[in-house]
Amino acid sequence: MQQFDYHNPTHIVFGQDRLAELDNLVPADAHVMVLYGGGSVQRNGTLEKVRQGLGQRRVSEFAGIEPNPRFDTLMKAVEVVRRDGVDFLLAVGGGSVMDGTKFVAAAAPYAGEETDLLKSGFNPIPISGALPLATVATLPATGSEMNMGAVVSHEGGKFPVMSPLLFPRFSFLDPTLTFTLPAHQVANGIVDAFVHVVEQYVTFPVGAQVQDRTAEGILRALIEVGPQTLANPTDYDARANLMWSATCALNGFIGAGVPHDWSTHMIGHELTALFGIDHAQTLAIVLPSLWQVRKEQKRAKLLQYAERVWDIRDGSEEQRIEQAIERTQSFFESLGVKTRLSDYGVRAEQIDDVIKALTAHGMVALSETGDLTPDVSRDILQGAL
Ligand code: NZQ
Ligand code: ZN
Repeated sequence: MQQFDYHNPTHIVFGQDRLAELDNLVPADAHVMVLYGGGSVQRNGTLEKVRQGLGQRRVSEFAGIEPNPRFDTLMKAVEVVRRDGVDFLLAVGGGSVMDGTKFVAAAAPYAGEETDLLKSGFNPIPISGALPLATVATLPATGSEMNMGAVVSHEGGKFPVMSPLLFPRFSFLDPTLTFTLPAHQVANGIVDAFVHVVEQYVTFPVGAQVQDRTAEGILRALIEVGPQTLANPTDYDARANLMWSATCALNGFIGAGVPHDWSTHMIGHELTALFGIDHAQTLAIVLPSLWQVRKEQKRAKLLQYAERVWDIRDGSEEQRIEQAIERTQSFFESLGVKTRLSDYGVRAEQIDDVIKALTAHGMVALSETGDLTPDVSRDILQGAL
């Protein structure tokens, strides 16, 4: 096992109908900004419950954080925070709203040029403080509710924004708040969580048994409860397990002391930025092809994944790996998430644009071993056509 530090300070408030407890968790004298997206939380009543939970506190609202939140939109919130002296941020929504709120928390007290905060990649951004933030998560997918990362879109790119100062103070996970999700967003969430696990697990072995067994458990849970949730949207137990799976997939626990890949995400981000394909859809496109191309580097873990996640025990090593990739791709398709570039109208001649964008963004040495060059990315994208 590799060396690691692990610290996760986010308080999780899990379960149905607990939003009244906001009153205990938000400082009584706070000036709160509630941030949300395009209106789903207004339509389904979540926003009203949040307002009630905040009681007599001074509350501002900022609406309109779009999917793949944009720097320019978030800077409008930053202006209001600075102008009105907001001192506590509450995100109510999916990954985009939670991520956008993290950016606002970092940017509002930042004295320098705010675009600097998009330039650190996976390293911590150069901030010495951030506003306290918390979340009410309405879409199980990103894990943003219990991690220190965000992704912000700006000028044709998607940029990670990471800092230990950006962990939510607390996050409400109420499975019933996810009942209103459209089926395709549920499916996206299942795929995103699945790929978060495998980017930290299908790498190379380092003898990290707890992390591996936990990763396998989350994957098996997703394979079980994903289809149950889609078939029966008000199945509380399925929703609850889906929600906690997505949180545990990217809260740092399974990633401690093990190699990470993240190539699927980095290539996928360019597909979203260039073609507007949903985040999870890009992952479903890239992952199966990436595993085909990187079979040798990932051989030992792909075999472990085949056996322990899909119960594939017969056949040669090659056949078992093929079956594992095939089962994964069919799983995504069975959820309704298409896995080919051509399914989204992207043509062979557009692959060059993706390679140019990866190169422009410095994504030239990806993977757990840093040897995934733009040429390899090209092979992966060609394999995904
Ligand atoms: O905007 P509203 O009206 O709220 O509608 C949203 C949005 O249209 C809707 N929605 C959310 N909760 C709902 C609901 N509709 C009905 N009922 C509900 N309960 O769903 C749509 C998509 O929301 P979005 O927040 O964009 O989805 P998701 O949670 O998948 O977040 C995707 C973003 O997270 C980033 C992605 O890059 C992308 O920008 N990621 C963040 C990560 C992190 N912070 O650690 C890691 C991930 O890998 C990912 O990159
Ligand atoms: Zn993701």
